[in-house]
Amino acid sequence: MTLKKVKPKKFVLTTPLYYANDLPHVGSAYTTMIADVISRYKKLKGEEVLLITGTDEHGQKIERNAEANNLPAQEHCDRIVNSFKLLWDKLDIQYDRFSRTTDYQHKKIVYEFFQRVWDNDDIYLSRQQGWYCVACEEFKEERELLEGGYCPVHFNKKAEWYDEENYFFRLSKYQLQLEEIYKNNPEFIKPVSCRNEILKFVGQGLRDFSISRVNVKWGFTVPNNPKHTIYVWFDALLGYITALLEPESKEITLNSAISQGWPINLHLIGKDILRFHAIYWPAMLMSAKLPLPEHVFGHGFLTKDGQKMGKSSGNTLNPFELVDKYGSDPIRYYFLKEIECGKDGDFNETRFINTVNADLADDLGNLLNRTLGMAQKYCKGLLPSITGTDLPQEHPLKKIGLDLGENVIKTYDDLKFNEGCEEIFTLIRASNKFIDEQAPWTLFKKGEHEEMEKVLYGVLESVRLAAYLLAPIIPGLSSKIYKQLGFSVDFNQVEYLKKIIPFEKHSQWGKIAHDKLLSKPQPIFAKLDVSLNKNF
Ligand code: MSP
Repeated sequence: MTLKKVKPKKFVLTTPLYYANDLPHVGSAYTTMIADVISRYKKLKGEEVLLITGTDEHGQKIERNAEANNLPAQEHCDRIVNSFKLLWDKLDIQYDRFSRTTDYQHKKIVYEFFQRVWDNDDIYLSRQQGWYCVACEEFKEERELLEGGYCPVHFNKKAEWYDEENYFFRLSKYQLQLEEIYKNNPEFIKPVSCRNEILKFVGQGLRDFSISRVNVKWGFTVPNNPKHTIYVWFDALLGYITALLEPESKEITLNSAISQGWPINLHLIGKDILRFHAIYWPAMLMSAKLPLPEHVFGHGFLTKDGQKMGKSSGNTLNPFELVDKYGSDPIRYYFLKEIECGKDGDFNETRFINTVNADLADDLGNLLNRTLGMAQKYCKGLLPSITGTDLPQEHPLKKIGLDLGENVIKTYDDLKFNEGCEEIFTLIRASNKFIDEQAPWTLFKKGEHEEMEKVLYGVLESVRLAAYLLAPIIPGLSSKIYKQLGFSVDFNQVEYLKKIIPFEKHSQWGKIAHDKLLSKPQPIFAKLDVSLNKNF
């Protein structure tokens, strides 16, 4: 079986629906920043995009957390949800839908889906015995557990022995179909490391999994058997479908949700929840006779100073403190540029400060600053109306600039943001070298005005292109650069950009004249002070 190639009119991508058990940590922020960059990039191109994020609010983990906080579960979730929304605002994340599994529409979608799977004879009652990690909300094989029965993901949490009657989903029935899907659609699971992990796991043989609990109250009860609640993962994955409904939609049915953008193009997740998305989810969808998502992409873990970040290791970063201290753009830049999406990546504060200072302040900011300074001094902030076609083919910036847009677009399409940033900064570093070599101040003194203006044009056009291509990652700084270059553009007003600054023109080098009044230079990014580096 091949995945049905349905061309949805809009590009739909999702982050995981984060557990509303605790405040967001930087791992959740990482996924959401990547998703936001993808969404902004596509919107910049003029594509219609729907970015879905949200929270997963049922299940034992949250039930226990609410109890520990002495709050009714719903109230506990409401508080946590507010902190997620606040963090996304602080990080300039522009989501289109925030899906909560406690939203009233969701229950209807879950019941309708459950019924479809039931009608397909894929649900049966049986006995579940096994070790359960509440923090993962997942049964573990005994051989997977660490010494003393601790969870391999949550080192300080002991798995608990469960022996109860549960409803099961016939996952084993889908073994062959899943294998065929992986074979015929090598791009379904990305990157290759994740695909291989899944192939290996499925190759060992799939077992049915339980989709209800009898010891958990906080969840949807199983239709016709209120002793059971529906397993949190079965419920949560369906949150992606519920999110497709228009917020005010009157018709809350699977079909109406599906008609709003299914199948999803990209599920962006961390590699720890790959099995749920690449095995359970497609099997559930096949059982309900729905087409499958196009891609599941598993990114790596964030580590801190070389160690995996996690609450159990006590080395998580508080994303609120981080963004309050440094602002959103440098954080977004660091995580996108310094970590290869799909591999584990480290946060080290000294490296963070050195990277953003070198790239954003020294290479990019200073270049703009001094070039604009010269434009003010030597030509009163006005350059003649020239474009790249007026410069020779062997012009060193033109040579790099002409291919840059296309190269960077390719890296963004492949989620290789680190490579995209590298390419962009090759042009910026070449521009710094070029201006030093060409010495416009000498050309000015010698009265070679036209030559001097061409030098300034080439450099300013390179800075503009870099700002445009970096805008999905650093929208604030890119807006500052564009404004100083005389464009009244705010890269956070994503929906208007395509009209004001068409992608076809602005993503190319040399198509724009810089004959508008250039502003007086103002530093776009003040260097971070290394002595701030104490608290993380
Ligand atoms: N609720 C489920 C997802 C349900 S989706 C229908 C869940 N939530 S979670 O809050 O625990 O995790 C959400 C995401 O955060 C996962 O993709 C996970 O990989 C990611 N991260 C958690 N810790 C992380 C790091 N240290 N580094 C990178 N991402 C990490 O799972």
